[in-house]
Amino acid sequence: MQLEFAPALVLRGNGVERRLGCRVLQSPLAGVSDRIFRALVRRWAPDALLYTEMVNATGLELGHGRGKLEDLATESGPIAVQLFDHRPAAMAEAARRAEAAGAFLIDINMGCPVRKIARKGGGSALIRDPELAAQIVEAVATAVAIPVTVKTRLGWCGGGDTSDDPSTSETAARAVDWCRQLESAGARLLTLHGRTREQGFSGQADWPAIAAVKRALAIPVIANGDITDPETAWRCLAETGADGVMVGRGTMGAPWLVGQIAAALAGLPIPATPDPRERLALAAEQLQALVASRGEKGLLIARKHMGWTCQGFAGAPQLRHALMRAATPADALALLEQAASALP
Ligand SMILES: Cc1cc2nc3c(=O)[nH]c(=O)nc-3n(C[C@H](O)[C@H](O)[C@H](O)COP(=O)(O)O)c2cc1C
Repeated sequence: MQLEFAPALVLRGNGVERRLGCRVLQSPLAGVSDRIFRALVRRWAPDALLYTEMVNATGLELGHGRGKLEDLATESGPIAVQLFDHRPAAMAEAARRAEAAGAFLIDINMGCPVRKIARKGGGSALIRDPELAAQIVEAVATAVAIPVTVKTRLGWCGGGDTSDDPSTSETAARAVDWCRQLESAGARLLTLHGRTREQGFSGQADWPAIAAVKRALAIPVIANGDITDPETAWRCLAETGADGVMVGRGTMGAPWLVGQIAAALAGLPIPATPDPRERLALAAEQLQALVASRGEKGLLIARKHMGWTCQGFAGAPQLRHALMRAATPADALALLEQAASALP
């Protein structure tokens, strides 16, 4: 299959232009896409746009979460900072901070369904308040020189669809209305997770609705939802006509996936999936880096990553079980080493 792309997506900010050569983006993943995870993803995907975990603008004002913006400028390749909040002034201030810290662009979260966030009016709650959403985009776009983008969902809830053609469904029509408002407010690119807030992560991502939004908007649209390998990325691009794809859950425990998809889309040889020995080495490396930067808490964070990475070889379930109970980083490391030496 051959898809034709212009060489790079050009995003014009308020004085600063950003170019995206790579058509696959690593999702922002709260609790996952920290600096250490991004460094692993970067090993396979030197040019892809990677995202910080979402950062709360009011929290930043109060002095929380500033670590998420530290050392951004020292990371290689483009890093987007994703912000969330319902207060335009706080978002504008947080965006200035992120820009000063070296953000490639500012992304605004308008899709997070987590109750704790939506209850306060941030994340997906903004879908129900398009006026406030537009004010936030405008405030942020005025505050910084770099481009401002939005990541959102198709809508708050489904449209009770009756149409036979999914791309003209009520859900798609509502998504088009919502996304047009974001475009008018000044968003320079939109990432669309093909589910409503009500759906959470259930059901299948509605790629035809993403296609309808892509057709209606002049700004680039990135398709997101249920892309797990180069084949699904191709299919999603072909079915939606989107300008790129974003991959989330598929990368958990698989930091090589964005690089594999990027190579496939560029017509280059696809890097091999690391074998079990390499995966165990990666798990050990991530554990050590997390403990070095976060102390004892690093082990807790590493547990979920080790659980995702240590898959697909004899003894993996027993290893995961033991890793979840390892009391110290040294115990966990010893388990990973033992498992590596037991491999054929
Ligand atoms: C653990 C986890 C954390 C997430 N954190 C964020 C986040 O911080 N910001 C955001 O916009 N989306 C977040 N998402 C949503 C993903 O970025 C993505 O939109 C969603 O998982 C659908 O893509 P996928 O099917 O490729 O996973 C999160 C999803 C998961 C599973």
